[in-house]
Amino acid sequence: MAGSADVVFAGGGVIGLSAAWLSAEQGLTVRVVDPEPGRGAAWVAGGMLAPVAEATFGEEALVGLFLDAAARWPAFASRLTEATGMETGFQECGTVAVALDASDRAEIDQLLDFRRELGLDTSRLSASECRSLVPGLSPAIRGGALMPGEQQVDNRAVVLALIEACARAGVDLVAERVASVSLGRDGAADGVLTEGGTLIPAGTVVLAAGAETPRIGGVPAGVIPPVRPVKGHMLRLRATGTGTAAGTAAGTAAGTAAGTGQAFEHIVRGLVHGHHSYLVPRADGSVVLGATAEERGYETTVRAGAVHMLLDDARLLLPGIDEWELLECIAGLRPGSPDNAPFVGPTSVPHLVLATGHYRNGFLLTPITAQAVAAYLTTGTVPPPLDAFPADRHLSAAPPAGT
Ligand code: GLY
Repeated sequence: MAGSADVVFAGGGVIGLSAAWLSAEQGLTVRVVDPEPGRGAAWVAGGMLAPVAEATFGEEALVGLFLDAAARWPAFASRLTEATGMETGFQECGTVAVALDASDRAEIDQLLDFRRELGLDTSRLSASECRSLVPGLSPAIRGGALMPGEQQVDNRAVVLALIEACARAGVDLVAERVASVSLGRDGAADGVLTEGGTLIPAGTVVLAAGAETPRIGGVPAGVIPPVRPVKGHMLRLRATGTGTAAGTAAGTAAGTAAGTGQAFEHIVRGLVHGHHSYLVPRADGSVVLGATAEERGYETTVRAGAVHMLLDDARLLLPGIDEWELLECIAGLRPGSPDNAPFVGPTSVPHLVLATGHYRNGFLLTPITAQAVAAYLTTGTVPPPLDAFPADRHLSAAPPAGT
């Protein structure tokens, strides 16, 4: 692609790639500038599409957005596979929430009430019902809840498919890091400057660099909202031996993932003495265990204490994990926003658009964000429900209580 593009995306994570793909499919000429597309927070994510479990009380407006976002995933996943021939790992696998002590049990009961108020299908489970759904759970657990219909994708499969979809749709991927936005004499964005000094001209600039977005220069103070990095440690394990669905008769009896290679059927959300964690079983037999939420600034060093804490909590729920193979320890930075809602849409700088601040829900919000960005770029309007969270809303930098 020579000359100016219609739009340049600063950042090729799951948000930048998906919005670039759908924009190109609308006939726009598109560039994505990222030194390693898909290898930031998107590579570290759990891939859970959990519209309620990652929200807190008082966030009903946000939950409405999340439920709408989740409903768009089945069609989006099919469209991505049709466009590329590549799998996304999309599954409507459901979630089992498990409590270790009485106070954890009470917190899960509150989540049950919240889901029922929202009209969502949920049932309380005894400890033995939890254990029959998730083979290998400890006899010490105090019961939990079943949330049918919750979905997951394989985050890495999705970003690889999005890179392919972008290539097939004619998106130009530029392997450089954006240093700043270029503003014309009229003060409107007219491209980006890379760290290597290249000017990439475009009619519109979309900042979709996740937690890195506020570090992009060239924009007047106050235009980019206070998105902050929230570090998450994540582990990948391979379930082997006893205590996995594939290795037990209970797996077959309970209709779990026995025979498929998947360690167990459902996503498991653990509450262990007040600590939240999750185990996401992938079809290839690996299990993603996450995640910490740490306010430590821009650093992604994998630290022993965080790994220890995740494993310690997980083995109280699933003692057999001690024998599992530890495949990977990794850390990434979520783009936290002060009110936990994303920033999607125009800014006060003409032709400068934001798509960032998705915090714990980047994958969940991918289809709805990509559709909204493509709609804005072609019609000039951010469609509902994302129009309720304008990118130029004014917020103080403080994170909300409870995060
Ligand atoms: N959504 C998973 C996480 O942020 O840890």
